[in-house]
Parts: sequence; structure tokens; C-alpha cells
Amino acid sequence: MSKKIGILVGSLRRESFNKKIAENLVQLLDKKYSYEFVQIGDLPLYNEDIDHDNPPKVYSTFRDKLSSCDAFLFFTPEYNRSIPAVLKNALDVGSRPYGNSKWDGKPAAIVSVSPGAISGFGANHHLRQCLTFLNMPTLQQPEMYIGNVTQILDDDGKIKSENTNELCKKFIKAFEGWMEMF
Ligand SMILES: Cc1cc2nc3c(=O)[nH]c(=O)nc-3n(C[C@H](O)[C@H](O)[C@H](O)COP(=O)(O)O)c2cc1C
Repeated sequence: MSKKIGILVGSLRRESFNKKIAENLVQLLDKKYSYEFVQIGDLPLYNEDIDHDNPPKVYSTFRDKLSSCDAFLFFTPEYNRSIPAVLKNALDVGSRPYGNSKWDGKPAAIVSVSPGAISGFGANHHLRQCLTFLNMPTLQQPEMYIGNVTQILDDDGKIKSENTNELCKKFIKAFEGWMEMF
């Protein structure tokens, strides 16, 4: 059966570079796969009391969506050398109720994107730490650090750098092979 990939973008910004890079990368996926951008901006901040007493409908919708995915691609900006709170919140919501994490055992890969030269390295590895605990086997190589992103995208949001395009193709191929192992 064809696998479905959940795409999570850790930025809510309209003109998000992460979103633009994600839109470029999903075009490279083999057509036998389906994908869905899973929205995370409307999830209330995780609070166990609310989850136990009166779980918001958006939590169950989000969790159902995660359940329908076989693998995940994460695109993260770096905020103060870590991942944005909105992405951490989504990880937390999906990880509960305890013992029923929607992430458990599903393969993943990470792309960090920044206008800066360090390419979101800190966020990339903080996210990797979370995915380790969530038992998500995460692609090791090629690592995907996209820095100086303003120089890589053209005015239409397409990747214009040949080197970056080649790396993206290599990355997607490796991710496809990776998720087929699980
Ligand atoms: C609160 C905040 C903290 C930030 N911290 C970092 C940082 O640690 N490293 C970095 O490379 N960029 C940092 N930035 C700049 C982001 O990389 C930049 O805003 C980027 O465009 C965010 O990704 P997006 O375009 O997908 O929204 C920060 C931005 C914000 C709003």
C-alpha cells in the first residue's frame, strides 16, 4: 500500500522560508507517495488538565491526522538556537494521551532552514533529541541544513541553486528508502 507522509512546518509565517522549501521538496517525492501538510497553528498550548477534562476537538482532529500518516518530514526554523514553541507543542499534543503517542515508531527526517549561515543547526538537533524520545527512527544522512536561504530561493519561491537542488534530490531519495525500511 502506498505510504502517506505528514509534512510539519514549524513556522506560521505567511512567507515562511521553511514552507517554501517544504513545497519544493514534496515535488521531488515519487508519485506513488501521498503527502499532507499537517497544520499545527491552531493547537492550544498543551495542558494535561484540559486534555483530561475536556480535550479540544482540534486535538483529536490533529491526532487522527497523525494516525493516518506513515512517516513524517519536519521543516524547522531555529528560534533562539532551538525549535519554535509551536512545533514543540505539536510534538507534545501528538505524544499524548500517555501510552498512545501518534508518533511512535514512525520514520522521520528533518530539514532546518534559516536565512543565517548556521542553517538552524541547533534547532535541527534539538528536534532530533525529541524524535529520539518519541521513538521515531530519524534519517541520519544526508543531514539537511539549509542556510542563507534568501540566496537559494527565487522570487517565486523555487530553489534556484543547482547544488541545493541536487542535495534535495539526494535527501528525498534517502528518505524514501529509509521509510520503506519500517
Ligand atoms: C523569536 C525568533 C528567534 C530567532 N532565533 C534564530 C536563531 O536562533 N537562529 C537563526 O538562524 N535564526 C533565528 N531567527 C530568525 C529566523 O531564522 C527567521 O525569522 C526565519 O525566517 C524563520 O523561518 P521562516 O521563514 O520559516 O518563518 C529567529 C527568529 C525569531 C522570530
